[in-house]
Amino acid sequence: MPAHPQLNRNGELRHLLSTEGLPRDVLLHIMDTAQGFMSFGEREVKKVPLLRGKSVFNLFFENSTRTRTTFEIAAQRLSADVFNLDIQRSSTSKGESLLDTIANLEAMDADIFVVRHGQSGAPFLIASHVPRHVHVVNAGDGRHAHPTQGLLDMMTIRHYKRDFSALTVAIVGDIVHSRVARSDIHALTTLGVPEVRAVGPKTLVPADLQQLGVRVCHDIEQGLRDADVVIALRLQNERMAGGLLPSASEFHMMYGLTPDRLRLARRDAIVMHPGPINRGVELDSSVADGPQSVILPQVRFGIAVRMAVLSIVANTGA
Ligand code: CP
Repeated sequence: MPAHPQLNRNGELRHLLSTEGLPRDVLLHIMDTAQGFMSFGEREVKKVPLLRGKSVFNLFFENSTRTRTTFEIAAQRLSADVFNLDIQRSSTSKGESLLDTIANLEAMDADIFVVRHGQSGAPFLIASHVPRHVHVVNAGDGRHAHPTQGLLDMMTIRHYKRDFSALTVAIVGDIVHSRVARSDIHALTTLGVPEVRAVGPKTLVPADLQQLGVRVCHDIEQGLRDADVVIALRLQNERMAGGLLPSASEFHMMYGLTPDRLRLARRDAIVMHPGPINRGVELDSSVADGPQSVILPQVRFGIAVRMAVLSIVANTGA
């Protein structure tokens, strides 16, 4: 596979597979395009014909509320024909391979595949097998990457903080199993954020995460102090082998985001979370629903970001 399988020879976005290795100008182009779609929700007619005649297939092999729904809304607002494959009722249950499923959907004239899969690398595999006119967008693969979440997080930060160049961003919780953390870290460092902290216990934030350009903090107070942005993450129990934590309540006691702890961050700090949230584990309800929380605006930004990604890849040549 080429070094940057998501870019064409002109450096344009052909697939979106990861924020890792995406140049700053590509990240900014997606965010600027998304900015233009931000007001769509308030329009009487919430549609533009940018993807008219194109077929977008949503293939969610793993559960989703936010990503799946906002991709569907985004594709519909772009006037695409949208097909949601019901994986539970599909022939995957009869042993059909992923690539055979893709080949059959290609025969139905698919233009874009939006793929969520439990196996890290599944969207890369698909991208390396589709014909040149077909595009693949990663909607989350295993613990590897969730690039549209990373991009909507960057949109949210830019909206509230304007400039990346003087920020301290604290990512708190289960970082080792989190595809969101990985996508955020790559995007934040590429956009020039000077201090990105990974905060949590040694079992969930190993020291070698420093290789990604982050400062590892096992002390929650140090991790939160003077942060401009706090990103809380869910314990990814479905990806834990077990024995990494005594219990969820112990995690909350040691690392949960409470109003008292949040006061260590800057007074105007924003609190983010990709969802789904587990109230009383990674954050208290009073923080999730409090004045510094931008968790629901993140979801709204997700529609605009996904409109931007779909419209950009659909118009990129091989
Ligand atoms: N943030 C996120 O990926 O949520 P869903 O699993 O609901 O799509």
